[in-house]
Amino acid sequence: MLDAPAVPDGPGLAAVGLADRPRVTGRQLPRVAELRELLSFRTPTLDPVQRRLETALTIGDLRRVARRTTPQGVFDYVDGSADAGVTVRRNWQAFTDVTFVPEALRSVADPDLSTELLGRRVSMPLVFAPTGYSRMMHHDGESAVARVAQRGGIPYALSTVGTSTVEDVADAAPDGDNWFQLYLTSDESINEDLVGRALAAGCTTVVLTVDTAVGGQRLKDVRNGLTIPATLTARTFLNMARFPAWWVNKLTTPGIEFASLRGFPGTSADVARTLFEPGLDFDHLRWLRARWPYALLVKGVLNPDDARLVMDLGVDGVVVSNHGGRQLDRAPATLDVLPAVREAVGPDATVLLDSGVTHGQDIVAAVALGADAVLVGRAYLYGLMAGGERGVQRALDILRAEYQRGLQLLGLDTTAKIDRRHVRPRTER
Ligand code: FNR
Repeated sequence: MLDAPAVPDGPGLAAVGLADRPRVTGRQLPRVAELRELLSFRTPTLDPVQRRLETALTIGDLRRVARRTTPQGVFDYVDGSADAGVTVRRNWQAFTDVTFVPEALRSVADPDLSTELLGRRVSMPLVFAPTGYSRMMHHDGESAVARVAQRGGIPYALSTVGTSTVEDVADAAPDGDNWFQLYLTSDESINEDLVGRALAAGCTTVVLTVDTAVGGQRLKDVRNGLTIPATLTARTFLNMARFPAWWVNKLTTPGIEFASLRGFPGTSADVARTLFEPGLDFDHLRWLRARWPYALLVKGVLNPDDARLVMDLGVDGVVVSNHGGRQLDRAPATLDVLPAVREAVGPDATVLLDSGVTHGQDIVAAVALGADAVLVGRAYLYGLMAGGERGVQRALDILRAEYQRGLQLLGLDTTAKIDRRHVRPRTER
């Protein structure tokens, strides 16, 4: 079947009286100056990392660069999901299916992207999510992510299974809004130690992750042998051999380890086992609330009843998250459940959202549907793999530019003006 014409057939030139008019296009001698303007080439960038990053206009482009520059097993660990990847697709679809409803003739000449988050001003409603093993993706690792967040005026949450310590991050970004993501373990001395160090290192916020009672089934990691302990397949190893620069950087920088858990007895496999705590329950949260004096968020809430229950225990807010589709497959898209969670906890609670944010307009959609801000995980990790600190910066620049353009095209000049009426989610179409 032929495609429909982009512009429907009109009445024809004869019908509107233009058919027998003489052609009037004049001719002139070619003008070299005009040609020069058309053929002005960009000066080539010699630095290969810079060149790669400059070609990346979207987070999807950064992902493609990352795939070329990183061993496949490492890329798959970041990019992969649990089981069949149903939730990852749902997350993406929910953002894609949003309809924006713009307002016309509003001045957007001087946009202000900033917003208030947990009592602090952030430059836009964005947080870098906690992600483990960042020094495996690039030797600059968590410190690079923290520096970009500090420069960009957004918070960064270091993971309990980060490959840098909370003290390393405080050194790298002493003026940053540094958060600490906590996995509570069955070993109380570990919990005490982690919370005490986050406090001493000046973290403003603790994020307790509650959707990892057991590990999700990440099939690609199992197939690649990227498990704890590692059981690399020959294929994974041979593929890694194709990335000598990655190896040199790995072997000439401190080894990959759960840095904040250094010193605890047992192998990394033993430590990993204690981190997934099947016995985690509301008593753990009560303990943490009593122990941590500053802002406390619970990450991994997907239903309004749970959101209300944790708020009743005195936390400051929730992160509506399905862990980027890496834990319970077939869990709902976070954007779909966000309005009900906001409704349940009321306007004063802090509600964050993550999972599937890859475009600045996704941030606009989430804020319109009830989020105070969003977290991104993979988006900045693709940048980290593609070009270390400069790649993370590129990811932030892309998201910020897209967010600003989205806001302006909606007819809004501040984050504060984003409203429910500007977005129709797919559930309302
Ligand atoms: C994560 N995530 C995560 N969450 C957490 O609480 N502690 C952790 O250690 C990790 N580790 C981790 C590693 C990697 C490689 C990824 C991609 C994710 C989940 C993360 O905080 C966040 O919820 C998701 O990344 C959000 O989804 P997107 O932005 O990746 O789609």
